Amino acid sequence: MTLAEAAASAPAAAGGVHLDPFHRPQAMSAEDLPESRGLGQLVSMDAARLNGSGARALLFGRFRLVLRSRELLADGVPVAIGNRALDVLIALIEACGELVTKDELLTRVWPDTTVEENNLQFQISTLRKALGADRDFIRTVSGRGYRFVAELAVERRATRPDGGAGAWDQSPANVVQFVDSPPPGALPAARSELVGRAAQLSDVAALVAANRLVTLVGAGGIGKTRLTLELARRLAPSFEDGVRIAELGPLSDPGLVLPTIAAALELGGAAAGPERLAAALGPRRPLLVLDNCEHVIDEAAAVAEALLHANPSLQIIATSREPLRAEGEWVYRVPPLDVPPEGEEAFEEVLQHSAAQLFMARISAAQPATSPDRRVGAAVAKICRQLDGVPLALELAAASAAALGIEGLASRLDDRLSLLTEGRRTAPTRQQTLRATLDWSYELLSEPERAVMRRLAVFADDFTMEAASAVAAGEDVAAADVVRCLAGLVTKSLVASDVGGPVPYYRLLETMRAYAMERLAESGELEAVAARHAAVDFDPFQCVEAP
Ligand SMILES: Nc1ncnc2c1ncn2[C@@H]1O[C@H](COP(=O)(O)OP(=O)(O)O)[C@@H](O)[C@H]1O
Ligand SMILES: [Mg+2]
Repeated sequence: MTLAEAAASAPAAAGGVHLDPFHRPQAMSAEDLPESRGLGQLVSMDAARLNGSGARALLFGRFRLVLRSRELLADGVPVAIGNRALDVLIALIEACGELVTKDELLTRVWPDTTVEENNLQFQISTLRKALGADRDFIRTVSGRGYRFVAELAVERRATRPDGGAGAWDQSPANVVQFVDSPPPGALPAARSELVGRAAQLSDVAALVAANRLVTLVGAGGIGKTRLTLELARRLAPSFEDGVRIAELGPLSDPGLVLPTIAAALELGGAAAGPERLAAALGPRRPLLVLDNCEHVIDEAAAVAEALLHANPSLQIIATSREPLRAEGEWVYRVPPLDVPPEGEEAFEEVLQHSAAQLFMARISAAQPATSPDRRVGAAVAKICRQLDGVPLALELAAASAAALGIEGLASRLDDRLSLLTEGRRTAPTRQQTLRATLDWSYELLSEPERAVMRRLAVFADDFTMEAASAVAAGEDVAAADVVRCLAGLVTKSLVASDVGGPVPYYRLLETMRAYAMERLAESGELEAVAARHAAVDFDPFQCVEAP
């Protein structure tokens, strides 16, 4: 079996690695490993505890200590302190408020040499300088040693590997809470089953095996992101340093491309320039995904090139509406889903095609009972052809079939899409088909739903129901109605939801957001809505309770 065939045959569910030939048993993913770089004793003594609880950073006061990259940040800005000072800090933190004697610190931080006590004092004073106003977090116990007295919070990966309580959950005395971070760069879990795409997965896997930069190109909604994430999930076990996802879609400022990629690589402090970032990456070998590059294409291409130059074993997969035109890039054009040919009407035959499978999967989520007869088969086949097999268009159409019925939908789409080809003999491009589908779905909404939909465009990223209410409510829509409208938009596939965590999160797909933004600008409300958005208190840990 070739690498490419393997990708196609690997199980669809995330985590299904047993028969996955991409899985090299000797190479664990970085998520499985004890923190292998740095962290010294904290790791060797407490790897099980920290990793078991999915801890990724420790928070105290205005500081954040990122475990993997050994970075100390003050209010999000990296603080330059040396390795020894960091070792001292970690040793103190690990003692959970207890006294750490000078001798313990000396042997721990300088295990191989005997050093004078003043070396330790120097490191302590460096640390206190770095802590600034919070210098008292480190208490001197006269003549004996030091104690770290700040209250700690443990920030952990949103999805914990074990799904249960880690040892750190029996909170050491000074750990006040656990907070879930939406981890930058982590591979999200699949929200629904991947439909079709076996051939594409194997094609792209073959390209990735042979080339270091592969870009998946295609129109909005064609399924680039979906395909890429699925492939990344399957390839993850064969990358020692795991998969890191830089989601560039939400960025409006090209200047944020580099910091976003750096954050995805957990090297937030190295965002000074692509070369600096490449140097900080060192010999690590993650699979880096640059998702939704189209609107920041020059910067994405520049960073990708620099990283690939500096790190000869780095591998990048990008998605974009157009190629990056970067050195060494291989372009893969993502085709639409497979549509039933003209004349094919038998329901079972129609269902052999992936476009029909996706459409029916979305229909049965909304209305389970559909009679599988020939008339329905013909209507489904027609809808798939009318929508060119574009997944996003199929999802939108399926959502409105609940109200119109499948046959009703087929004839309405006919009317709608024939407008596009009027006076021309050529079929509409996929962009036009999708555009018409978006217009149509928007028009089918109630007035308050439309208002909420366009206002949600100001959210570049995930948002909570609470934030949506704060931004989308106005004179015309009461806050309580926003909740109802948001639920309606989710049902109609215009808003994606993630209800897996303690707080449900919502998000607009890129294409949807661009569309909603256009509508928002047209409505003349943009400024007012943006001001409400700016006023919302974006506490990243809002509503996330300590267990
Ligand atoms: N093969 C597939 N199986 C299931 N859903 C899919 C598939 N391809 C795309 N989708 C869905 O279609 C929508 C658009 O896909 P997406 O990957 O975001 O498109 P793009 O990145 O090209 O704009 C998403 O809701 C996605 O989950
Ligand atoms: Mg995308």
